[in-house]
Amino acid sequence: MKFLVHTYGCQMNVRDSEAVEAMLLAAGHTKASGEDDAELVIVNSCTVRQKAEEKAVGKTGNLCAAGKLTGLMGCAVKRLGEDVFKRLPKLDFAVGPRAIGLIPKIIADGRYPRLELGDDMMSQALASHVEGGVQAFVTVLVGCDNRCSYCIVPDVRGHEYSRPAREVVAEVRALVENGVKEVCLLGQSVLRYGVRNPAWFDSDPPSAGGYREAFPRLLEALAAIPGLKRIRFTSAHPKGCTDELMRAYREFPQVCRHLHLPVQSGSDRILEDMGRHYTRAEYLAAVAKLRGFDPEFALTTDVIVGYPGETEADFEATRSLMQEAGFDNSFVFKYSPRPGTRSAAKPDDVPKAEKERRDQVLLADQEARGLARNSRLVGTVREVMVEGPSKRNKARFSGRDSGNRIVVWDVSPDSPPLRTGEMVKLRIIDAHAQILIAENLV
Ligand code: 5AD
Ligand code: SF4
Repeated sequence: MKFLVHTYGCQMNVRDSEAVEAMLLAAGHTKASGEDDAELVIVNSCTVRQKAEEKAVGKTGNLCAAGKLTGLMGCAVKRLGEDVFKRLPKLDFAVGPRAIGLIPKIIADGRYPRLELGDDMMSQALASHVEGGVQAFVTVLVGCDNRCSYCIVPDVRGHEYSRPAREVVAEVRALVENGVKEVCLLGQSVLRYGVRNPAWFDSDPPSAGGYREAFPRLLEALAAIPGLKRIRFTSAHPKGCTDELMRAYREFPQVCRHLHLPVQSGSDRILEDMGRHYTRAEYLAAVAKLRGFDPEFALTTDVIVGYPGETEADFEATRSLMQEAGFDNSFVFKYSPRPGTRSAAKPDDVPKAEKERRDQVLLADQEARGLARNSRLVGTVREVMVEGPSKRNKARFSGRDSGNRIVVWDVSPDSPPLRTGEMVKLRIIDAHAQILIAENLV
């Protein structure tokens, strides 16, 4: 059957969609060239904010109306449960985020409608990859037990579980043998790897070290794989910024100098209410550690504006924290109450227009800060992994530095051809808020 997968949401979803594609290909199905050509369409949904869920469900509704075999997977399915068929009467099948391993069987069985919310069908999916690229996502930890007041993720992605280290290392080794040069390790709170359940190699005894040891040791094992040039990971919590993690940064040059460290708010009162388990000062201490080790260490974050009870003073605290932390990039979200979460029981009392205003203020701040931070890099030489020619201008190439900054440069027609995944040294000649312009060294 010719299939297509549409993805909404975070990198975890991007990775899950890839796993579904790989499993369908292995089962003998083929990828459609576009929607018209597809006989089967699967939408991978997000539910982190109401708007995200509406987008995915709306798209699925349109596809159902087109009369194709249509499936919905991912976070929104788990949240909606049986109600998914009330919202989408023509939907053929729906699978929760931890049941995606069943999709090939569902198609083979051909019995619709079908709903699978099961929690233990991940193993096949976790290890399935589509061959090709030089970059790969590897899920090392699924689920989350943090229970931040606003967040629906623990309800939809289930309990935290770390994969055994030997499984992760074997998977990365196989990826590298197939041409992968960069991996990004994924987990809702990836630095908690090996904390809740020991995830060691067979030969090692489980360690009591938890936070301090498990993830850094995984990095060490991956850094020993020849041919693996870069190791990234996301998302992080300041509690995981231990001295052991810092040692891994220092010792293994493959570990990229970038961390996505969602802060959510700069106000202690709000952080406490959110149940984030750190204060503004503790968060900034983690930042100081990272920047103390490398002033150009790239930090990105997520922030929520308009959380219940967020005052102008709370908002200004967020604003000043973002400036103090000097984020290289940030993603600002307007608070959206999610049914069943702790904060949804509180009045959503910041008016929509005010949420919008706060969003715009932080965006403008980030634009200026991003430009200022990137401008400091003009004149420096950076190592860039080639991603490929720019879509618009074939003479222009694009890649990323260790800090995940996008770098673009012109390539003269007579210079030797560049391959995706190759490392090149470039001089930065100009900076924008989100992009660095470079030239070849001569
Ligand atoms: N409302 C708004 N933003 C949210 N996020 C998570 N839950 C909510 C919510 N209920 C944001 C957080 C998180 C990012 C993925 O989405 O900032 O880090
Ligand atoms: Fe990712 Fe959270 Fe959206 Fe699920 S709900 S796709 S975990 S952002």
